[in-house]
Amino acid sequence: MAAPTMTHFPCRRIICLRQILTQLTQTCRSSSSAKARPTSTAIRPPSESKDTRVELEEWVSEGLAKSSLKPKQHPGRMVLPTVSVPQRLMDAASIILEKYPLKELSRRADKLANYLWSRHPPSTDAQVTKMAKEVYQQIMEKREKEGKTDPIQTDTVLRTVRQKIYHWQPVTYDAYRSLLYLTSHLAHNYTVLLHCFTEISKRDPGFQPRSVYNFGSGLGSSVWAANAVWGSGVFEHYCVDQSQDMNTVARLLLQDGDNQKQMSIPGVVFRQFAPSAAHNQFDMVVSAYTLLEQPDQERRLQLVDDLWQMTNDVLVLVENGTTAGFSTIYEARDRLLQASDKAEDDSQKCYVFAPCPHDAACPKMAEKKQPCFSQVPYKPLPQNHTRASKTVARYSYIIMRKGKRPEGSDWPRVIQDTVKASRHTHCHLCCADGKVRHMIFTVSKQGQDIYKCSRYTSWGDLFPVRFPAEDGE
Ligand SMILES: C[S@@+](CC[C@H](N)C(=O)[O-])C[C@H]1O[C@@H](n2cnc3c(N)ncnc32)[C@H](O)[C@@H]1O
Repeated sequence: MAAPTMTHFPCRRIICLRQILTQLTQTCRSSSSAKARPTSTAIRPPSESKDTRVELEEWVSEGLAKSSLKPKQHPGRMVLPTVSVPQRLMDAASIILEKYPLKELSRRADKLANYLWSRHPPSTDAQVTKMAKEVYQQIMEKREKEGKTDPIQTDTVLRTVRQKIYHWQPVTYDAYRSLLYLTSHLAHNYTVLLHCFTEISKRDPGFQPRSVYNFGSGLGSSVWAANAVWGSGVFEHYCVDQSQDMNTVARLLLQDGDNQKQMSIPGVVFRQFAPSAAHNQFDMVVSAYTLLEQPDQERRLQLVDDLWQMTNDVLVLVENGTTAGFSTIYEARDRLLQASDKAEDDSQKCYVFAPCPHDAACPKMAEKKQPCFSQVPYKPLPQNHTRASKTVARYSYIIMRKGKRPEGSDWPRVIQDTVKASRHTHCHLCCADGKVRHMIFTVSKQGQDIYKCSRYTSWGDLFPVRFPAEDGE
């Protein structure tokens, strides 16, 4: 399977761009040597935090004192040890893949994985226009330096814009591509969703979803992960994927690779079309790696709205751990929080359950201009020869819950690798007040308990501490 090829630049956009470029030519001619004044839209970073005071959560402190809790298993720990897919799923995958030459399968699966990893959302008209203006400006400046005065050819600008802009194309999952996706992504997606569901279950043991809606269900990794966490408590796994071949592969995985057998997890249905958002609700709604698959921003946001409308309690969205994946998740987060701000009824409000301990703007992006990811270790399928026997899944995700943010759900999140140096630990924490803090934990500064917990804390975990309110707050 070859990765999808580039398409032509859409005609509608070319016409639209031609008009913009004509306008630009006119304005530039009338003020030919006037320098464009750059307008800054950058968010001013919040001032650096100098906090070092921090208090261990009271009940954690008591638990450690009574030895009913150990620092190694402190309750903020969310990241699981290296995840392998359940043996039954692995066996079913082996049966399905055994007919295919493994070397070729693995090589092509890796190619597909690279293509999907580099995926961006389709560029919006505003982005194309901005790019055209920038390219035009660059060409103008270059020509001014060279002393050229003849008008710029619109085609020259268009050609450069065409080369620079991302050409989004839909990925069609036919039978073979579904198997390639199985080889490259089954273990990866299962691991990521297992982490999301495990965190929900650990932090709210009372939450037991009876119905789960899985949009763009693909291989059914969500079904396996939800089953690993909540078992037969889930009565309905409603899976929708537009690809019939994907649905067949997902069903076969549940039938131990034999289409004559019963599915090993009960209550699973596969459909090709989404049910009406207005008339169907599920305790938990999951959509992993589907937002970047939507053909434009309008349909992407409509999908987010529909999924939210179908959510009774928890919505889980996952994308690649890339800048594009982060932006897409952040866009969905923004959309839902904005709607929540406008909602008058508390039941229509929502808050970020994970990863952020706050509903404010992302401080990592604001302060460091870096997207925020999570990273967890897993074992790829043995058929995936191009991956090491142990690797990491890097992803962007958001778990939204209905209602108002409960008191006390605000332990900081560890947002990059902790550095365990000699007698001190460096932790980068995203905190409930919407600030990022780089903390250095030592026994002398924060005491034995916090220091010991910090030694057993890694990227993606929560840290069970609170920051006393600063003076004047
Ligand atoms: C990258 S795969 C993700 C698979 C899946 N979430 C998993 O964990 O295995 C994206 C899937 O979304 C499906 N998809 C994309 N757009 C869709 C749509 N509008 N309706 C239904 N399925 C869609 C594709 O067919 C594909 O199987």
